[in-house]
Amino acid sequence: MPVAPGRLPMIGHIWPLMRNPFDFFADLRARGDVVQLYIGKRPIYFLTTARLAHQVLVKEARSFGKGMVWEAVHPLSGNGLLASDRALHRRQRRLIQPLFHRQMIASYAQIMTAESQALAESWQPGQQVVVQQAMIELTLTTIVRSMFSGSLPGDVVREIIRSLPIFTYGMVARTVLPAWLCKVTGFDRRFLDAANRLRAAVDHVVRTDKSADGTDLLSHLRAARDPDTGEAMGDDLIRDELVSIMMAGTETTAATLTWAFHELSRHPEVEAKLRAELRDVLGGRPAEYADIEQLTYTRAVVNEVLRRYSLLMLFRRAEEPVVVDGIPLAAGADVMFSQIDLHRDGAAFPDPDRFHPGRWLVDREDLPHRTAFLPFGEGNRRCIGEPYAQAKAVIALATILGRWRLVPAPGHTVRRVAAAMPRPNSLPMIVTPIDTDGSEPAHA
Ligand code: HEM
Repeated sequence: MPVAPGRLPMIGHIWPLMRNPFDFFADLRARGDVVQLYIGKRPIYFLTTARLAHQVLVKEARSFGKGMVWEAVHPLSGNGLLASDRALHRRQRRLIQPLFHRQMIASYAQIMTAESQALAESWQPGQQVVVQQAMIELTLTTIVRSMFSGSLPGDVVREIIRSLPIFTYGMVARTVLPAWLCKVTGFDRRFLDAANRLRAAVDHVVRTDKSADGTDLLSHLRAARDPDTGEAMGDDLIRDELVSIMMAGTETTAATLTWAFHELSRHPEVEAKLRAELRDVLGGRPAEYADIEQLTYTRAVVNEVLRRYSLLMLFRRAEEPVVVDGIPLAAGADVMFSQIDLHRDGAAFPDPDRFHPGRWLVDREDLPHRTAFLPFGEGNRRCIGEPYAQAKAVIALATILGRWRLVPAPGHTVRRVAAAMPRPNSLPMIVTPIDTDGSEPAHA
């Protein structure tokens, strides 16, 4: 099996992984379907094809646990869905799945519309906004309102906004860097402090907020009963599930929206088509859940953003000996792949580096094979929040663009930063008005 270039004694491939994982992963594809890399002294099987990723996530899923991700996220998500394994995961997934059914998403969508509209209305013509920050706050507020119908104390919301990015940004570093380095640099302390503050903030709300009105996530988690034992979830597990959802759903969706604004500003022809659709379907009003079906081009834009800016890495660890595509893996073997890199496969996505929403506007049978496009993962750990994320991205994008045009602030160069979900270093943009029917005024 080929070994990735650039391995150093003791630290393995940590340097290229931390310096520029995008180029590092892109380079591995040409070296084989499976390439060995090292995180410190620990060998990792890096998969470069979606076919192999599918085998691990779906066909042989029962032989794998979450492995290194569990170690990284456990301080925050505890026993929540994101990191739990085996029987607990199966039980919780069954209990939580109904919270993401169609009629529930339709009800959260009212919050998505209201919050997107409120954000669009708070902006002034000519104002400079830091888009990734605005999208994190928008996504977080929407998720928090979907979770807790009672209004949260301002200090709790501020705490979440402050601590969540420290945590999600640190996940990659904490997964990749050796434990001793995380300790001596003080990185571990900052990471764990952020996790503790966040858990404490949500814990406080779960134990004290009795205002749940029966429609929010908190009420549904309280009402859920194990179908076999009739057991309810304890407050600790409810907190862990809420923290998991908040953690998994905030920066991912915020990054998708942020990259969408960035790509639209670089592709005027795409933006023009999107605006034409918004004028036809919405005619200047905010987008609602019932509009999503008709917003075909907007959905294609979101899909293309998800293709180009997916998660940086996914991990699994074999929990028993298993054979993947003829390769025998011992119990304890770590497997990893990069969705963002898999989505650059030219065989599935011709001209893969081109931002081209049109590739999604074809007949069903001509769409890229579903195993080649896996922004939400696959199998029994597939993203439970996918319908929420899709609805949120379409509603927010359509509602904000129905009101404003976002133009890049001069003098800033956008770079991708490695995080669980890659994000821009910063994205300052100028808010520019359009007419209320969705067309741009003559002076714009
Ligand atoms: C664009 C936005 C999103 C992306 C790209 C995304 C991606 C993913 C991926 C790839 C996984 C699987 C991880 C694995 O297999 O190890 C996952 C799991 C998960 N996601 Fe999402 N996600 C997004 C939004 C959301 C939202 C909005 C929520 C909740 C409101 C959410 C909640 C979860 C949860 C709880 C899991 C764990 C599921 C399980 O293990 O059973 N995600 N997500």
